[in-house]
Amino acid sequence: MTDRLTIRRPDDWHLHLRDGDMLKAVLPETARHFARAIIMPNLVPPVVTGADAADYRDRIMWAKPKNSKFQPLMTLYLTEETEVRDLRAAAEIRLITAVKLYPAGATTNSQSGVRDFRNVMRVLENMAQIGLPLCVHGEVTDAEIDIFDREAVFIETVLDPIRREIPELRVVMEHITTRDGVDYVAGGGDTIGGTITTHHLVINRNHILAGGIKPHYYCLPVAKREEHRLALRAAATGGDPSFFLGTDSAPHTDAAKLQPCGCAGCFTATNTLSILAHVFEEEGALDRLEGFASRHGPAFYKLPVNEDTITLIKGDPVTYPTQIETGDGPVTVFDPGFPLHWRVEE
Ligand code: DOR
Ligand code: ZN
Repeated sequence: MTDRLTIRRPDDWHLHLRDGDMLKAVLPETARHFARAIIMPNLVPPVVTGADAADYRDRIMWAKPKNSKFQPLMTLYLTEETEVRDLRAAAEIRLITAVKLYPAGATTNSQSGVRDFRNVMRVLENMAQIGLPLCVHGEVTDAEIDIFDREAVFIETVLDPIRREIPELRVVMEHITTRDGVDYVAGGGDTIGGTITTHHLVINRNHILAGGIKPHYYCLPVAKREEHRLALRAAATGGDPSFFLGTDSAPHTDAAKLQPCGCAGCFTATNTLSILAHVFEEEGALDRLEGFASRHGPAFYKLPVNEDTITLIKGDPVTYPTQIETGDGPVTVFDPGFPLHWRVEE
């Protein structure tokens, strides 16, 4: 029985760090184990220009624990006003690693996102020319489309037409939650990758809704039926380099989650690696965890794999705090609902 696993240090290809007191409290949770992370730009106001990204990057570097080598990989929030010149300049000096597309109204702080995709085609063409990846929140926002169908409809009506028009554009379909997403990414060649969150490998929609509503399991895209969770598990653990880890760890205070209209987001930074080791072991795929968490992402982004390693050890149950304290109030840590036995050797 394997009880030790050493892998290259992982990266998180989709992370929300927020700002101010929240940033200070949540950043150490990721920096403890991860070398790099793609930082989501959906602040209020969003990170839309190169100057915004440079300022946000400085604030992250300030908030970082002393001695941490964690490296934030910055993104710009795509709007219909994004200027090609500004974006190209930020990419040229490697200030940004990707651009994030939120359909307007799809999720937390997405009001400034894209309403009419024709208005961003010129920006996307420029991104394709310089090889700058587009990270996509893949859900349509039309009120008449059922929330459980929004990912599949987005692929058909938005993402596929864009990729047909600009085939060289490198796209990451983020936090995929459906078999449709898995199939689209797997069959999409080397210009598309897909990130999968930790929590979507663990929960389906029953976890949110059966036996009482569980706000801490509510995120967007919302978890779907069990068959979709199983497709995600097969994709994550199957060794296909198109799939890599993007936790979408998205902290909200309990006060903001436990509301008649609560915020979307699961906070998984603290226990993600323990949960992933558990899932990969269950699937008989511990030897593929390194690919998913540490190798496939850098390969897609054309970045080097991290030089150093982490070691996971299996033993007595590991406990994590149920909440972490922040200057804004407590944030609840994602509860996988089963005991965890793998921990990262410190
Ligand atoms: O659950 C989510 N939370 N999904 C998103 O797309 C945004 C995120 C957030 O910023 O809270
Ligand atoms: Zn996100």
